[in-house]
Order: sequence, then structure tokens, then C-alpha cells
Amino acid sequence: MLMREIIRKKRDGEALTDAEIAFFIRGYLNGKIRDFEASALLMAICFQGMDERETLTLTLEMARSGEQLDLSSLSGVAADKHSTGGVGDKTTLIVAPLVAAMGGRVAKMSGRGLGHTGGTIDKLEAIPGFQTSLSRKRFLRQVEEIGLCVAGQTGELAPADKALYSLRDATSTVESIPLIASSIMSKKLAAGAQCIVLDVKCGSGAFMKTEEQARQLAQEMVRRGAGRRVSALITNMDIPLGYAIGNALEVIEAAEILRGRGDQALTRLCVALSAQMMALSAQGSIAFYEKKAEAALQDGSAFQKLRELVRAQGGDDSVLEHPERFPQAKVKMPVLSPESGFIIHMDAELIGRAAMLLGAGRVEKEGAIDPAAGIVLRKKTGDFVHRGETVAQLFTNLEAEGQIAQAAALFLTAIHFSQIQPVEEALIYNVIGENRE
Ligand code: URA
Repeated sequence: MLMREIIRKKRDGEALTDAEIAFFIRGYLNGKIRDFEASALLMAICFQGMDERETLTLTLEMARSGEQLDLSSLSGVAADKHSTGGVGDKTTLIVAPLVAAMGGRVAKMSGRGLGHTGGTIDKLEAIPGFQTSLSRKRFLRQVEEIGLCVAGQTGELAPADKALYSLRDATSTVESIPLIASSIMSKKLAAGAQCIVLDVKCGSGAFMKTEEQARQLAQEMVRRGAGRRVSALITNMDIPLGYAIGNALEVIEAAEILRGRGDQALTRLCVALSAQMMALSAQGSIAFYEKKAEAALQDGSAFQKLRELVRAQGGDDSVLEHPERFPQAKVKMPVLSPESGFIIHMDAELIGRAAMLLGAGRVEKEGAIDPAAGIVLRKKTGDFVHRGETVAQLFTNLEAEGQIAQAAALFLTAIHFSQIQPVEEALIYNVIGENRE
């Protein structure tokens, strides 16, 4: 088989055979196919797309390219979730304990972030002592004992995706629906859970800018379930989720939500995601589990599960009730509103970039992240603000005043004002796959 012929076929819009896709993935992983050949094929896929069979074959080839976790020894059915990524997205920190508090089993492998803010693993590592590098044996034992474990994803899981993702990042070939769908689903299939709930974000802070693109991606992923039970929620990422953006700041907000006293919209989203995970993995309707999730937030059991998770993974759970024990930022600076009016739009991506400038995100793959850095919003879309009022608080350990001022200026470009109060936007646009109640 010749790689140049495979590239030509895709360039001309032909479908690749299963054998050609397998040849590409295996050859790239063992070094026989070089970066320039793989880049050319990825770019051709970006322009020509892939049909359903090709995308499924690509997904399965990548899922089988490394270790595949076997969760069959667990006493319950394991559920997993994945978010396509957004600004202030701390849903895993809330949903995993909430599902475990309802009797579910969450066996979750998560990644670090590249871009705006950290990934779930970076957020958890903001908790002093928290360990994310666990042996498989310990991972499974913890899920069995307390109902949940969140560990760092190793390179042994879907290594073909890891290698291709770096190349896609470097060659502007990330934004292709078949490539994103197969990348995400290959990792989810290799991680072993029987039930998978996908949170597909759309809007200014997401990969998918429109609802139509997000729906297409969700459908592609639900179809690549390979026998697993999969559903997808399409959710709004036009404004940051909740009020906190940045690693320790997001853990503090997640703890507040789990104590039943956080932001209503974020709470509603987490209740919906948890109910989906339970309805896929246990007996009962979405409505039944939504009520159960709300009760777990009110009676303290969901918050207790977060404490158990932190203790089981070596972390200091006292920080959850004493946020002052988290790493602290030396600089805390208010951002003042330049005008009076209703906030009609907040560009989540620009706010994420401002948080990254403050140190909350990683600019390079192995770069350092400041757990204390970030932004806490004081006002959100729909709120009225007076000129000179605080719209957000910036947190950083940077000493360069110029860079802090640049972050504040960028933050302000993300906010749009009007004298007319905007209509509240939906948070969950659609549900695709099973459980569309
Ligand atoms: N997240 C992934 O894991 N893969 C993609 O291709 C895009 C987002």
C-alpha cells in the first residue's frame, strides 16, 4: 500500500477502505509514515470529510492503538462523561461526585488543558496533595470503594490519537468534525466505560461556534459508540460557565455548587448531565434522577463525595471548606465597568484568553500553570452595571504590570453593553442519542 495513493484518493474526495485507514494509523504510530505524509492526509480529510464507515474505522483503530481499560471487574455499570471544552468548565468536578452520591460509578480519565485554562487534572492538582497519577489497580479499587476516581490520562491510552492530535495542532487540522469525533470517541472507548455522556459545547468559547456544527459533531460521536450507550447534550458556551475561571478558583466554585449554594445555571447543567449518566447506567428516568441529584446537593451527600474523592487521592480536603488554604494570588485587581448599561454579550473565548494571560492556562504543551491565577466574574450577561462598578476580579502572581493591564483590557473587549435588557439564552439546546425526555 502506498501512502501517496491514499493521500491522492482523499484529496479527490474518494472514501478510504478500512485497510487503508488501518495502514495509516499503524504506520504513523510505528514511524513508517512520516509527519509530512500524515499532515497531507489530515488536510485532505479537513477539506473532503469522511463518511460514517470511515470515521468509525478511524475511531476504532485509534482506540485499539494502545491499552484498553477493562472495567468489567466493577460491581456496577461505569459511566463516563466528556466535555468538548469551554471557558470555566468545571462540570466534571461537580458531576462525578454527584453521580457517585446517587450510587453510580464514575471511572474517569481526564486530560490537562492546552489553551485558555487548565483541564480537569490541572484543576484537581490545585488542591494541595491531590494525586492524579494512579496505577490501574488503585484506580479500579477506588471506583469500587467510593464510587469514583478521576485520574490523569496516560499516553498508553489511544496513543495514535495523542500523536495525531499534536500534528493536527501544529498543522491547523483540528477543526474537522470526523477528526474531532474520532479523537474524542477513541479515548472514551479505550477508557472502558459502558455509558458515555457527551457535553458538546457551542458558542464563542467553544470549538463549534454554531448550534448546527455542534449538532453534527454530537451525532457523529453518538454514532461512533461501538455498542456503548451514548448520549450528548448540546450546551451553550457563549458565556463562561459559572463565575470562576482558573484552576483553584474553579475548585472553590465547584465545592459551592456541591453544597447547593452556587450559580443556578451551572447547577442546572450539572444536574442534567448527572441525570443522563445515571439514566444510562442504572434503572430510572431522567426526571427521577434530576430530583435525586437536587436532593444530593441539598442534603450534603454530593459535597461529602467530593471530600471522599480528595482524601482518597491524597489531597487536603479541608481546603474545600477553607478556600483561604488554597494557593493564593499576590495580585487581586478589580476590573471596572467603562459604562452603564445591561451586559448583552460576553465573549467567552476572549475572557479565556485574558485568564491565560494571567497565568491560568498553558501556552505550551509542557508549560507551567499557576493554580491561583484566574478571573472571578462579578457580573454576567443580563446584569445591569453602573460605570465604575466592578465587573470582575483578576487574580495573578505576575509581576509585570503591563501584562496584567493587557489582561484587563482584553477582558473589557469581551463585554458588550446595551440600554435594553437582553432575553435570557437557553443553557441546554438539545439532547441527542438515548434519553431524550
Ligand atoms: N478534544 C479532543 O480530544 N480531540 C479533538 O480533536 C478536539 C477536542
